[in-house]
Amino acid sequence: MDFLYPFAFNIRDFEPITGRIHQPPPVHQTFEAHNFVVCSFVPRLYDYHPDSIPAPYYHSNVNSDEVLFYVEGNFMSRKGVKEESITLHPLGIPHGPHPGKTEGSIGKRETHELAVMVDTFKPLKVVKRTGCLEDEHYMYSWS
Ligand SMILES: [Fe+2]
Repeated sequence: MDFLYPFAFNIRDFEPITGRIHQPPPVHQTFEAHNFVVCSFVPRLYDYHPDSIPAPYYHSNVNSDEVLFYVEGNFMSRKGVKEESITLHPLGIPHGPHPGKTEGSIGKRETHELAVMVDTFKPLKVVKRTGCLEDEHYMYSWS
């Protein structure tokens, strides 16, 4: 028998795990459901090893589609996203910091970003009605 409980959680109450070196994405995980997880990217200290590189590494999510909603702050690893942007990186698409952002992150102490990510374990389908909202230049932001 399954039970459903309404649950509210203010993202500002999320306490992120930080470390000397770059922490893996699960440290941001806030909720886990059968076919998706919700991660919270909140203001936090960056990696504090003297030789650390705070920018995230390039990756391709081979098991999930990744949707990110940028709520507020300065999004260190990305160009071309701003508050209220939503990005979708389908599974297997390599992505990471935009050119110059890895080098630019060195020596940075903290972030004030606030963003929510949903990783789904089944492919998402994009409805046609979102076509008018798509930034057709986003894919070129890595070049
Ligand atoms: Fe990602």
